[in-house]
Amino acid sequence: MTAAHDPASLTFRSTAAQSLEGEARVPGDKSISHRSIMFGSLAEGTTEVSGFLEGEDSLNTLRCFRAMGVSITDPVDGRVTIEGVGLHGLKAPAKPLYVGNSGTSMRLMSGILAGQAFDSVLEGDASLSRRPMKRVIDPLTAMGARIESGPEGRSPLKIHGGQSLKAIDYAMPMASAQVKSCVLLAGLYAEGRTCVTEPAPTRDHTERMLSGLGVGMHRDGPRVCIEQADAGARRLVGRALEVPADISSAAFFLVAGSIVPDSDILLTHVGLNPTRTGVIDILQAMGADIRIENRREVGGEPVGDLRVKSAELHGIEIDEALVPLAIDEFPVIFVAAACAKGRTVLTGAEELRVKESDRIAVMADGLQKLGIDATPTEDGMIIEGRGEPAPFGSATIYAQGDHRIAMAFAVAGLKARGEVTIHDCQFVETSFPGFAELFNRLGGCLELSRH
Ligand code: S3P
Repeated sequence: MTAAHDPASLTFRSTAAQSLEGEARVPGDKSISHRSIMFGSLAEGTTEVSGFLEGEDSLNTLRCFRAMGVSITDPVDGRVTIEGVGLHGLKAPAKPLYVGNSGTSMRLMSGILAGQAFDSVLEGDASLSRRPMKRVIDPLTAMGARIESGPEGRSPLKIHGGQSLKAIDYAMPMASAQVKSCVLLAGLYAEGRTCVTEPAPTRDHTERMLSGLGVGMHRDGPRVCIEQADAGARRLVGRALEVPADISSAAFFLVAGSIVPDSDILLTHVGLNPTRTGVIDILQAMGADIRIENRREVGGEPVGDLRVKSAELHGIEIDEALVPLAIDEFPVIFVAAACAKGRTVLTGAEELRVKESDRIAVMADGLQKLGIDATPTEDGMIIEGRGEPAPFGSATIYAQGDHRIAMAFAVAGLKARGEVTIHDCQFVETSFPGFAELFNRLGGCLELSRH
């Protein structure tokens, strides 16, 4: 494992492919991998994780918990063993905790750290330092936490330990699983019963996993609560955790297989939690040929194999209810929309502006450079799909420190008349190690250069 404070710059050059074919298991789910380290560390006893994502984001979480005294093995083929220290067993880190590019690490860990006896500092890279943290500082402060931040609530965050937290009943202003999880995790350390009401369903891995580790969780419609207990009485009990393949990584190949003619790809063991499957619903509504085979349940999460074959896509108005259920997949959904016949309209997705980059601005800009009529709006985008065999021209794109922008434009290159050059692709390592190799194994034409 290497620290990735300043990775060498990586450039992708993507050109048209004839057809895509083959079978693959994409790397482990990022959300579940982060949580497996965090919750395994806070549990009593040993947690054996399999299918762990060995990407920079989840490795940063792993390094942070090691820095707080938890014994965690180096991941080998997705296997990690964590010797949990219990909810009250973390030790003060000697240095600021560095989480790199990872919003999930910073937001979830701020909830955990607010409940500790020691002070800590959370810091990240340039992209993360621009992202809003007030959304976690506000509810944590209402619970009695003391947090100092940079201007406008940006990181680094200094979290003062030794505060006694009180439960809250929080009406969350935005549909964010990270904020929900942060508050619930702080709730593990609070007197009383902490509840969060979400304005729309968001991914529920925290609830499922805490419940699997023995914490009582109660859901009533949009409101989820942690069991009533004395702050010192709650416990998590270590156990085996299996991480399914990440549907957010599979999404690049769901689109690639749809837009390249004569394609047939099988993506195995993909997590199909209903709070994550919006991308399948959206692509199917556009006419995609995606079938779910071999549905099963693994470690409390639904899993299945996804078979995608090429199809003629058409533009749609995307149902706003699907937005939080596909929130990470829009960069590549925009690429699908540019290839589809007719107009696609996305609304209700202002959260895209505060991801690893402003995904509305960066995607609209890149698509326009490639010759697509894409109009960014405050909360979404309008794309006039070309419905042509090769809708994209040639362009040079900057991924702006955002892994999913880089991978989305690599997929666009599959249908380019020329070449799509993408700079700043080193961040692909945060969520999808081995992306380029897999892309080429399935029939893509991606050239890499490092400088
Ligand atoms: C995540 C939640 C989502 C998602 C992110 C991972 C999580 O963020 O975009 O990649 O693991 O809880 P928000 O909850 O802020 O929308």
